[in-house]
Amino acid sequence: MAHPTLLVIDFGGQYSQLIVRRVREQGVYSEMVPWQKAAEKIAELKPEAVILSGGPRSVLEDGAPDLDFSLLGGLPVLGICYGQQLMAKKLGGTVEKAEAKEYGFRELHDQAGIVAGMQNPTVWMSHGDQVTAVPSGFTITATTESCPVAAMENAGARRFAVQFHPEVTHTPSGKQLLSDFIDRTGMARDWTAQNFIDEQLDLIRATVGEDQKVLCAVSGGVDSSVMAALLIKAIGERAVCVFVDHGLLRHREAEQVIETFRDHFGANLHAFIEHDRFFSALKGQTEPERKRKIVGEQFVRVFEDHADELKGCDFLAQGTLYPDVIESGSSTAAKIKTHHNVGGLPDWMRLKLIEPLRWLFKDEVREVGRKLGLPDEMVDREPFPGPGLSVRVVGEVTPQRVRRVQEADFIFRSVLREKGLHKGIWQSYAAILPVQSVGVMGDERTYQEPIVLRAVESEDAMTARAVAIPFEVLEHCATRIVNEVEGVNRVFYDLTSKPPATIELE
Ligand code: XMP
Repeated sequence: MAHPTLLVIDFGGQYSQLIVRRVREQGVYSEMVPWQKAAEKIAELKPEAVILSGGPRSVLEDGAPDLDFSLLGGLPVLGICYGQQLMAKKLGGTVEKAEAKEYGFRELHDQAGIVAGMQNPTVWMSHGDQVTAVPSGFTITATTESCPVAAMENAGARRFAVQFHPEVTHTPSGKQLLSDFIDRTGMARDWTAQNFIDEQLDLIRATVGEDQKVLCAVSGGVDSSVMAALLIKAIGERAVCVFVDHGLLRHREAEQVIETFRDHFGANLHAFIEHDRFFSALKGQTEPERKRKIVGEQFVRVFEDHADELKGCDFLAQGTLYPDVIESGSSTAAKIKTHHNVGGLPDWMRLKLIEPLRWLFKDEVREVGRKLGLPDEMVDREPFPGPGLSVRVVGEVTPQRVRRVQEADFIFRSVLREKGLHKGIWQSYAAILPVQSVGVMGDERTYQEPIVLRAVESEDAMTARAVAIPFEVLEHCATRIVNEVEGVNRVFYDLTSKPPATIELE
């Protein structure tokens, strides 16, 4: 990104990404780079300031993560935890193994310098080593009962460091510290959604040129909608938007996508209504991964079948976000579910990629979407799986069972909204199970399927917890669903957290 940058050099810290987010919240653009690639990134971005993150290793170990400080020149630097220890070691101070590990809340004493602005002295610590002598030119700017150098600085050289973690919410005045550091860097606080949009419009136009076209697949989700809105604004009709309605979206979602893009944005939108194709391909299929694969394959078929309409594009827009871009440590996690839904794209779709959101976190994408005039329902939309309701219709996917899920889902989510309970929920939905049970309705015996309601809280979908929805609200939803949705005679609420369950039922 060409925007003036504060670079976070990551030493493997648990909270490094959070530092980037906190800096951006202050209106300063920030990126993160693993320490091994710091030299290249500094040369590429020419950052105006640097933060050194925490990390799990000890600077005293052989082969510990390191940094050539000469790369930093005269830039302002803030070291956090491991970053402070590394700064001390590199500049001539002393780091030693602490007698006791400091983990958890601590109170700062003797606050001075940049740390003096922190009104609340409570901080979050997590370290085994500590600085015992500061480098020459530095002064101690905070201590704790067990930590002789909880913060240090050489203000003239604009080198600051803290042993605690200002980026976590457990450090109530952490934001203030980061803000004060940013003041010392002299960087302008001009990282705003509007500036991002202006810069991207220029960049997209420069990349795409005067007459090339961009193929832009919209799914109805936040990322692809914001991406499309940005491209339409940049290049108008040359953003060739494609929307495949597979019949597996929520109640009225497909119509809303078409209305928003065609009527509101005047997009060059190709909407392919392909319910039959997807339902036929899914007929008789019950195995979750097989169902996912089929939906992915059918997407590709749709593109192939409409190739004549879509060929002639030079770029393919993709809704990659910054967390996907950050090189994370290699994952050896077992494959639980396939989340990449579309594979094996036809050759003519192997186009040059354009990824206008690759610098943003999800909350920033939402902000940009709002600024671009997307409706709230779209911008605030919860994550939704690519294979759509097929993973919420446990067992065989039929139009009838999908319709039951859509209707129950609409009731459940409307009630949550009416009661003001939707805020803070990560995902909420209805699903259907492939079992039948007995009920009685109007003196008649019923033998029908149950709906499962699920609502979870989560930070990142890696872990999740069931939301404590008040019993009366659940009871009200159950009554409405059984009365209003044909073919359903029971309603369950899923109480399981992830792990051991997953968010989706399949
Ligand atoms: P699970 O069910 O694995 O879901 O706890 C984690 C997050 O991923 C979403 N999800 C999917 N997204 N294709 C997607 O694009 C998929 O096949 C898929 N399966 C699950 C799920 O909604 C949740 O946000």
